[in-house]
Amino acid sequence: MPSASTDSVVAIYPGSFDPLTNGHLDLIRRARRIAGKLIVAVLNNDQKHPLFSVEERMEMLREACVEMDNVEVGSFSGLLAEYAANRGARVIVRGIRAISDYEYELQMASMNRRMRPEIETMFLLAAEENSFISSRLVKEIARLGGNISGIVPNFVESRLAARFENPSKV
Ligand code: PNS
Repeated sequence: MPSASTDSVVAIYPGSFDPLTNGHLDLIRRARRIAGKLIVAVLNNDQKHPLFSVEERMEMLREACVEMDNVEVGSFSGLLAEYAANRGARVIVRGIRAISDYEYELQMASMNRRMRPEIETMFLLAAEENSFISSRLVKEIARLGGNISGIVPNFVESRLAARFENPSKV
């Protein structure tokens, strides 16, 4: 019988985090309670044309997680399943906000399981108040000068404002 303790479980929460939202943060807080170590892993993929560089996205995550002692921030390129295996992770954590997320998540989880059957994908349901938050919409609203307070941490809000104030960097 496996031990009931999850202290030795390494979990990975992968994503683009472009930028970090309060929805992501809620998931990090909840996932870290059920893993010994949680690695928040930023996808390094320029093909997605991110607004923030990998280093900037990792910096924001580190700032938000500074007091979470079992959370580590990392980055990866290539296959998530391989990164997870190399980091000794047994669990991949993903959030589901609405039924529209499910199809894509089901495909990813199934393909990842095909590649690495020993790694389980675990889904956490987004808290109701976060179920409408997406990084894509946050960027769009910030770019058009709308109010995103309460949807992202304050320091992310400032970074977005600074980025859109200086269009040469966008
Ligand atoms: O925050 P996102 O953009 O929804 O995260 C998507 C992510 C990073 C989890 C996904 O794109 C991914 O795992 N990319 C790595 C490449 C990979 O493993 N592709 C095959 C997935 S089955």
